Amino acid sequence: MMLLQSCLFALLAALLIGASPNPASPTPQNLLGEVIDALGIGLVTHIDVALTLDTLTNNLVTVDFEAQNPLAFELTIDSVSTTGGLNGTVYTSFEHKFARPVVVPPFGQANSGNITNVLLTQGATASLAIIPFGVLDLINVDVNVRALSIFGIGGVPLVISGLHQASVPTTYNLDLS
Ligand SMILES: *[C@@H]1O[C@H](CO)[C@@H](O)[C@H](O)[C@H]1NC(C)=O
Ligand SMILES: *[C@@H]1O[C@H](CO)[C@@H](O)[C@H](O)[C@H]1NC(C)=O
Repeated sequence: MMLLQSCLFALLAALLIGASPNPASPTPQNLLGEVIDALGIGLVTHIDVALTLDTLTNNLVTVDFEAQNPLAFELTIDSVSTTGGLNGTVYTSFEHKFARPVVVPPFGQANSGNITNVLLTQGATASLAIIPFGVLDLINVDVNVRALSIFGIGGVPLVISGLHQASVPTTYNLDLS
């Protein structure tokens, strides 16, 4: 019941915000700059990569990441396009549109959920060599986010491209069952 009430409240609030922009909220230009600055510090705090026996033949892994939001308002991630690697070599590149957008609360974190069928562009065998380093460089990240969303609803759509981030802690899980 509480949950239903909060959902209805969020929906109502989103509709109200959509109908009459709060004069105190930042203009889209300022908002974009603010979000770029914040995400430039680092959107991703951790990456998990799951390999299976099939990975050795199909070069596909499952990835999830932990996103952080250093801002005082909510961010909802609708899609992400990223190139990751090590030492300037690209090991993976993928685009993903979230079926359920990732809602990152103000000053909080959220997990992306599993992103399946991510291709290891150098092939699985060559990629095994980077596992011991336990880090990945995000060479390029483009994200479509909605700033000032409320429980994932509404907000101002922003397209942010060209983020990069070095040495993101990465855990590789080998599922050999
Ligand atoms: C990265 O490059 C440096 C310098 O060329 C080299 O010493 C190091 O082994 C490389 N690391 C990887 C993971 O390729
Ligand atoms: C995500 O993927 C990992 C590794 O394949 C798996 O262990 C886990 O159960 C998956 N989680 C969900 C929610 O599907």
